[in-house]
Amino acid sequence: MPEKNSVSITKSQLSPKVHEGLGIVEYFSGKKLLVTGATGFLAKVLVEKILRTMPEVDKIFLLIKAKDKEAAMERLMNEIINTELFKCLREKHGALFESFISSKLVPVAGNMCEMNIGIEEDVANLVAGEVDVIINSAATTTFDERFDVALDINTKGAARIINFAKKCEKLKLYVHVSTAYASRQIEGKIIEESFGKGHYVANSAGMNETLYKHVHGLDIETEIKLASEMLESFKENEIDQNLKDLGMSRARNYGWQNTYSFTKAMGEMVVEDTKGELPVIIIRPSIIESTLKEPIPGWIEGNRMMDPIILLYGKGKLPGFFVNPNMALDVVPADIVVNSILATIAKHGGKESKLEDSNSNDHVYQITSSVANPLIMRDLVDLAYQHFCISPCFDREGNPIQISAFKLFTSIEDWLKSIEHFKYMANLYQPYTTFDGRFDNNKVEKLLECLSEEERKEFQFDVSCIDWKHYITRVHFHGVRKHVMKETALK
Ligand SMILES: NC(=O)c1ccc[n+]([C@@H]2O[C@H](COP(=O)([O-])OP(=O)(O)OC[C@H]3O[C@@H](n4cnc5c(N)ncnc54)[C@H](OP(=O)(O)O)[C@@H]3O)[C@@H](O)[C@H]2O)c1
Repeated sequence: MPEKNSVSITKSQLSPKVHEGLGIVEYFSGKKLLVTGATGFLAKVLVEKILRTMPEVDKIFLLIKAKDKEAAMERLMNEIINTELFKCLREKHGALFESFISSKLVPVAGNMCEMNIGIEEDVANLVAGEVDVIINSAATTTFDERFDVALDINTKGAARIINFAKKCEKLKLYVHVSTAYASRQIEGKIIEESFGKGHYVANSAGMNETLYKHVHGLDIETEIKLASEMLESFKENEIDQNLKDLGMSRARNYGWQNTYSFTKAMGEMVVEDTKGELPVIIIRPSIIESTLKEPIPGWIEGNRMMDPIILLYGKGKLPGFFVNPNMALDVVPADIVVNSILATIAKHGGKESKLEDSNSNDHVYQITSSVANPLIMRDLVDLAYQHFCISPCFDREGNPIQISAFKLFTSIEDWLKSIEHFKYMANLYQPYTTFDGRFDNNKVEKLLECLSEEERKEFQFDVSCIDWKHYITRVHFHGVRKHVMKETALK
């Protein structure tokens, strides 16, 4: 893998200077935001960044799944504020930290699976009367989730929150966090293109099939009906597996990799169909991994994507995996994703920059690395090997675990000869480990050119700056082992 020179010139440095920039800090000053998925990995990094760098933000309402206000407050404190992620902010404010937090963050009990996103009427009216920007990050991110559950959150949840957004009198922007893998394309350059209208509303209104812009035959209402019919036709103990299987088979029937990306794609279609005059942007990050720099390098929550596999390898329990060695695994550190989101909001959230043509693709942003700065799978596993050579895992006796170079099996059969019981895992990950597409991030790159010098320092999101060797060997796996595996004896 070509090693990055620390003095190399990046795309953002080559770009023409735009002195006034996007005005990110000015934009957020005095604004009221509603963030869903607030207890999730991405939203926490987002909220921390806003509070740390833009304390002039007025308020952030956080939608938290909870039975009441007290329970939402408890989750806010335990799962958000008291995490290590907020350590810098805590140090910055010292004794005034608690009062700063309570003046800015408002936990709101709710649920994306209920009418009016589960918010009590009087609270809903208050939020709707005040909020300027909604950032919808709530989702189920389990690849093989039960179809009914994934539809309820990722697809129908989108309809519910758009409905709520329409009641928000001052709303300047609705930000829908989707995924790059919502696109069905698995080869070549994947452009930032919307699904257009016609899969949800048009079909239930009995309109013609020619309206379907991308996915012929897909009718979201039919998928919802299918899942609820299955729910009624199976015994209690058979429901889970059957609904998981149904999701995967419906997804693959229409060309998606799994239930997650299929239901997220349908969520985007619902947004397109129901948004009407609402100003909307769709954000499609690829695989979000630990923070590169801010507020601390390597912060992550949850054992995600390739991490469980690489950790098993580091512990000497897995010699290798089934992957295409030449593919680019599209990874973006969480802080880069967050900075990109903040920049897109500042660009689109002002009255003067309202999207002119709601049917264009100007509102779709892919936050991705595989075109601009690809991380090739062969290099990733080599870097993982280097990481575990420098910082080995230890066995129960406290001895360092020796590992050999990661083996790349290019056919599932060869790999299964050695490890039969990982078959399901290999199949589940196959769409990612053999994926041959690369996600274009043209628009995010153009946005970089709009940043001022100051903004380039504070809100850097140039993926071409990422030194993968440093990130993988020194930041990411350290972060996963420290924050997720809770290893204490890390070199
Ligand atoms: N992580 C990635 O690699 C990645 C990549 C691309 C795109 N994305 C997208 O980025 C967004 C955030 O992902 P993430 O990694 O932060 O996910 P995450 O850590 O799994 O968090 C998901 C969040 O959604 C909330 N949620 C789930 N069901 C809900 C419901 N019925 N009502 C209200 N809230 C609900 C969860 O709340 P509970 O704590 O109560 O469960 C949690 O706060 C998602 O839209 C995801 O599709 C993620």
